[in-house]
Amino acid sequence: MTINIIDIAYTRLKTPDVAAATDFATRILGLEPVDRAVDRLSFRSDSRMSTMSYEIGDPSETIVGFELANGEDLLNAAKTLEALGYEVRYGSHEEREQRHVSEFIAFRDPSGGRIEFAVSPQIGGNGAQLSRDAGITGFSHVGLFSRDPGRDEHFWTQICNARVSDRVGELPLLRLSQIHHSIALVPADRCGIQHINHQVQSIDDVQRSYALLSQHKVPIVFGPGRHPTSGARFVYFEGPDGMVFEYSVGVREVDEETYRERQFGFEPKSFCMWGATPKNQGVGYIDLGPGGQRAWDECDRIAR
Ligand SMILES: [Fe+2]
Repeated sequence: MTINIIDIAYTRLKTPDVAAATDFATRILGLEPVDRAVDRLSFRSDSRMSTMSYEIGDPSETIVGFELANGEDLLNAAKTLEALGYEVRYGSHEEREQRHVSEFIAFRDPSGGRIEFAVSPQIGGNGAQLSRDAGITGFSHVGLFSRDPGRDEHFWTQICNARVSDRVGELPLLRLSQIHHSIALVPADRCGIQHINHQVQSIDDVQRSYALLSQHKVPIVFGPGRHPTSGARFVYFEGPDGMVFEYSVGVREVDEETYRERQFGFEPKSFCMWGATPKNQGVGYIDLGPGGQRAWDECDRIAR
């Protein structure tokens, strides 16, 4: 039975320095802190009560949470995953409270990344009270490292209900709703979150943040630029522990009836139609591992 995912819901990050990560998440990224504790902190970016969190631990242990419609769908998802050999764990009461969800299951995606399926992410009575005027309208998508994009695309589109919107080379951009993509599967020799996207209201917000990030000497890893795939105007930058964050605006919405997936060449102009290239592929938008890095360098050389 297909696992029906409604939307992406939250990320959970670990860091050895919660205070420094919190400073970044509020003063630079602009999120609203909630549930403040000594060793952990949640953040709001939209109407939901927790769309990101930091707690003390190993930064490589990232979690992405997705919303399912109800408990019946969650039970069916657990049965489907277990039948396929995935180890599934139900979240404890304390863990559910931390995530502001009524229930969830945890498992690892085929590349080994930690994934959660959750029901009823709690909505706040008001929107997020952003810590700075970043123009954020909400948490929107993630890049996930994939050791085998073809295999992992099969998981998200055949076991789950994601659809391919576009592919750049073998990098698929997958949608869960009419929004062009909620998941990008980025080839790499590792697993977990590759980048975290927040949508902003306007291109002015992207440019204003670019200036602020530059003033604070936050490493800009890609952009400002525009993706020809989703149409979004973007800037990518590096936060604590090498995690990459993105602000973007103007992501394309897809008509489910008429849209057909498209194949883009694996070349710089497929990632930015304005000519920007990732400045540090090792931690930036494109982390392809040693072989992929050579492929990128080669197409970058040809493009020049
Ligand atoms: Fe993105």
